[in-house]
Amino acid sequence: VSLKNFNTFGIDVTARYFVEIAREEELKELFADPQWKALPLLVLGGGSNMLMVNDFNGLVVRMNIRGIEHRISHEDVYVEAGGGEVWNDLVNYCVDHGYAGVENLSLIPGSVGASPIQNIGAYGVELKDVFHSCRAFEIASGNFREFSKADCKFGYRESVFKAELKGQYIIVSVKFQLSLKANINTGYGAISQELQSRGISNPTIKDVSQVVAHIRVSKLPDPSTIGNAGSFFKNPVISAEEFDRLQAGFPEVVNYPVADGGVKLAAGWLIEQCGWKGKTIGHTGTWKNQALVLVNHGGATGQEIFDFSSQIIDSVYTKFGVILQREVNIIN
Ligand code: EPU
Repeated sequence: VSLKNFNTFGIDVTARYFVEIAREEELKELFADPQWKALPLLVLGGGSNMLMVNDFNGLVVRMNIRGIEHRISHEDVYVEAGGGEVWNDLVNYCVDHGYAGVENLSLIPGSVGASPIQNIGAYGVELKDVFHSCRAFEIASGNFREFSKADCKFGYRESVFKAELKGQYIIVSVKFQLSLKANINTGYGAISQELQSRGISNPTIKDVSQVVAHIRVSKLPDPSTIGNAGSFFKNPVISAEEFDRLQAGFPEVVNYPVADGGVKLAAGWLIEQCGWKGKTIGHTGTWKNQALVLVNHGGATGQEIFDFSSQIIDSVYTKFGVILQREVNIIN
């Protein structure tokens, strides 16, 4: 089975076996069979945060459990969505109903079930700010388990599902805690600027959603026409001492303070300074408006994009002494 339409980089690799799951019980049935359980496993949501380097000689499970339900309690709204729902459909549902909290996360590609795995985030909001709990299938036991927010150990693009529990659970639904009362977050400069230029001083969540969508469309390539997986690297966090050294050599280095005393750098800036912005090599390159995004200009192999990313890591290290880490999952 070709996976070309199941990964947003549009890499043309194949899966030995492929199954789509529309109901929770189907997972139980599938993994009750030791033959399937023994195979290498790849769980797919929207395929928007991965780079497929080789054909996959195992079982690909595409999660397609749908449904969105809500329950209102005073000013809180609990929205529970199937893992197979498209993330932005959930955002639109919430914005249309006036359920506040996810509007800054408009237009992020991918599925609801994948959203906790890397604690998706954008424009000053992270999934963990609206996450209540999730339900997941334990492959080894065949049982379902509830994960609270604390259980998930969220960090910057991190969770327990990427760390100690990696590969052990499949998320089937996510419950969000939203609010009927908007708590607008326009701390991110680009949002407040765009609202101002539209003459909006008292934004609704719909306004914020529209502004975020506008900014994303102007900066980021649309995966339906040009293959990409959003930010390819994480923004590196370095210690205050390392930062002082770096800033002595590069006074204009773009940075943000983080909670535990470290400093977060803009990977896009580091990459641009090394001359990579908008550069094309073969079938791959970085996006002209955002150097942190690697693209498939058509016909790129996963290996080609991976090798290109290694060149970027090397040159950023040589110039700045900073090690970039890939944010995208590399599937070998
Ligand atoms: N910059 C450059 N050149 C570039 C790109 C960025 O100099 O080519 C500098 C600019 O100074 C800019 C700053 O970097 O102001 C930050 O850029 P941007 O606002 O585009 O955000 P980012 O830090 O590059 C992060 C997330 C994005 C998220 C945006 C907005 C990561 C790895 N990326 O990108 O998330 O949409 O902030 O909140 O944290 C993703 O994870 O896939 C993703 C797209």
